Amino acid sequence: MLTEVLEGLRSRQKFLPSKYFYDKEGSRLFDEITRLDEYYPTRTERSILESNLEDISDHLGEKIMLIEPGSGSSEKTRILLDELSSICCYMPIDISGEYLQKVAVQLRRDYPEITIEPVVADYTHAIELPKIHNSARKIVFFPGSTIGNFEPDTAMRFFKVIRGLTGNGGGLLIGVDLKKDLNILLNAYNDSKGITAAFNKNMLTHINREIGSDFEPGYFDHSAIWNEDKGRIEMHLIANRSHTITVEGESFTIEESESIHTENSYKYSLSDFSDLVSPWFGVRKVWTDPKKYFSLQYLSPKPQ
Ligand code: AVI
Repeated sequence: MLTEVLEGLRSRQKFLPSKYFYDKEGSRLFDEITRLDEYYPTRTERSILESNLEDISDHLGEKIMLIEPGSGSSEKTRILLDELSSICCYMPIDISGEYLQKVAVQLRRDYPEITIEPVVADYTHAIELPKIHNSARKIVFFPGSTIGNFEPDTAMRFFKVIRGLTGNGGGLLIGVDLKKDLNILLNAYNDSKGITAAFNKNMLTHINREIGSDFEPGYFDHSAIWNEDKGRIEMHLIANRSHTITVEGESFTIEESESIHTENSYKYSLSDFSDLVSPWFGVRKVWTDPKKYFSLQYLSPKPQ
């Protein structure tokens, strides 16, 4: 974290990596975001899943090993585990081993007929899966439009890793947030209760605690803007006064109105997304909600 914070503060456009949102308080705030009226993605994806279970099941096929990178609480996955009798094995992959073990215990209790195989790994790197001798089809589940938080080149590397997991016979079921009316998008990241603002500023508290820096969250205001050229929502922390931050003895002056860029959330059109995955996957099926805010897509691997 120290190296990345220093790199971010030394840059002309200051930045901090969005992964540092998620300490305990950040995860709690994100959970609160997912229940906000303005934040449509979680609710919409859930309703797409629930209203298309039969068709999803038909596309995924028989005898499935479901693999979920960055599984967290596996909450959305339970919709599939509850309804799809074709799932014989579930492999949640998460970087937090302790949390993963806790979730696995609960899952084994709730789904005794499904083999639960947790894997502790950073899924942004090539993943070595345990050798399980079964002939199940490998279906990767990547919900939540987490793919939107990846830069396009990182997304490409991710699809390559996932293509390695699915083999020729598997598939990828992925949630992708779509381009839409600007006001809907902006409201989703500038909610009226200020939860997203608290989530954004909490990153500074998290970083202070970990590396002893002296960010003052009150000296920053939350900002979320649409970048039309890049097709993404950008979150920034804007200094409301000129001040100095010290990290490991190094001082950084932040001018009034200067921004620290904290997150990108890319929004795709269906054709942009299909182009992005095209070296590795072909889009077989797209499910959306009636307003076309969000998409759940089933991709099948291209022969390599
Ligand atoms: C986790 N990720 C998909 C969220 C998003 O919408 O990009 C993170 C988030 N940032 C602000 N609100 C939610």
